[in-house]
Amino acid sequence: MYGLLFRALFARMDPEKAHHLAFSWIRCAARIPVLRTFAAAVLAPRHKALRVEALGRRMHGPFGLAAGFDKNAEGTDGLAMLGFDHVEIGTVTGQPQPGNPKKRLFRLVEDRALINRMGFNNEGSAAVAARLAARDAVFPTTLGVNIGKTKAVTEADAVGDYVTSTEALAPHADYLVVNVSSPNTPGLRNLQATEHLRPLLTAVREAADRTVTDRRVPLLVKIAPDLADEDIDAVADLAVELGLDGIIATNTTIAREGLGLTAAPALLAETGGLSGAPVGDRSTEVLRRLYARAGDRLTLIGVGGITTAEDAWRRILAGATLVQGYTAFLYEGPFWMRTVHAGLARRLEASPYATLAEAVGADHRKVTV
Ligand SMILES: Cc1cc2nc3c(=O)[nH]c(=O)nc-3n(C[C@H](O)[C@H](O)[C@H](O)COP(=O)(O)O)c2cc1C
Repeated sequence: MYGLLFRALFARMDPEKAHHLAFSWIRCAARIPVLRTFAAAVLAPRHKALRVEALGRRMHGPFGLAAGFDKNAEGTDGLAMLGFDHVEIGTVTGQPQPGNPKKRLFRLVEDRALINRMGFNNEGSAAVAARLAARDAVFPTTLGVNIGKTKAVTEADAVGDYVTSTEALAPHADYLVVNVSSPNTPGLRNLQATEHLRPLLTAVREAADRTVTDRRVPLLVKIAPDLADEDIDAVADLAVELGLDGIIATNTTIAREGLGLTAAPALLAETGGLSGAPVGDRSTEVLRRLYARAGDRLTLIGVGGITTAEDAWRRILAGATLVQGYTAFLYEGPFWMRTVHAGLARRLEASPYATLAEAVGADHRKVTV
């Protein structure tokens, strides 16, 4: 059904326009009481066994929407209605900015992948904070807020820009994510080096504690799949040392591996971050390495190329407490979350683990004889 809609309508449209159209339908459905009740009942049946506790929150399940879909927090209620157990908004920057010139989003349909160089198009931290303050949720969900650097701000002033966003947005965040891994803001990924990351994360932590005094806002960092293994270890060590709550692994990749031969060469030459199925193996490797290094001292969120329930399950066994997806949502449509939840529940039931929490990182505890 969705496959037909995708081929007949979305695939014929510019990908960014298709995104805006689909998102406007979701927001519209969430405003109509009969429709939203029906949609939630059909698309988001709950599985008790999948309940998780993470980042100080009780969630219906482990499966959330990754950052970038709802950059300005315009439709969190509609996205929760569709069955996402948490929704991460952003990336939001200190100041509003238009992002890169269009066209900046490309579909690689055969590969179930996307290339994007959106460049953090967003309304800025003040506007997004105002929207979140006025939010009236029918489907309460765990809200992650992902922050990044304004392009016009120099690397030397980056910390101040993240602090501006933290002060505006931390009061509305169930968890906060420092994004230093988008390939589309020049120099941003240099902030992953520990000598830059340490002062940045320390300043954001302090700003969050200064701004929100009645609870502790969990803080995570989101990293790229392109980091060298020793840099992954260094980020894990730093996160543990600074008392961070977790790491999100991973963002999109600048590599072009794992693609079929069907994609047009012109498409492969587009600059930007590759997401979807081809990034899955590397994202899993990064996650596995983080868990091997930090174990349960960090809450790991696995993202990158998750399409099926099996993908999500494998990510949990590799060390993820929560998982996220974005690209497959576009290709699989509104029944995707229901399918993944049902598949996860079946896998848990058939496994030796009583709860999802027990399954987290189980791969690392396997005894080989
Ligand atoms: C169009 C698009 C925009 C994105 N924008 C952001 C963003 O603003 N901030 C961010 O941290 N990640 C962003 N991402 C990365 C995703 O959150 C996710 O980490 C990545 O796509 C891998 O997951 P996937 O393979 O399930 O898409 C974006 C991804 C896509 C496809």
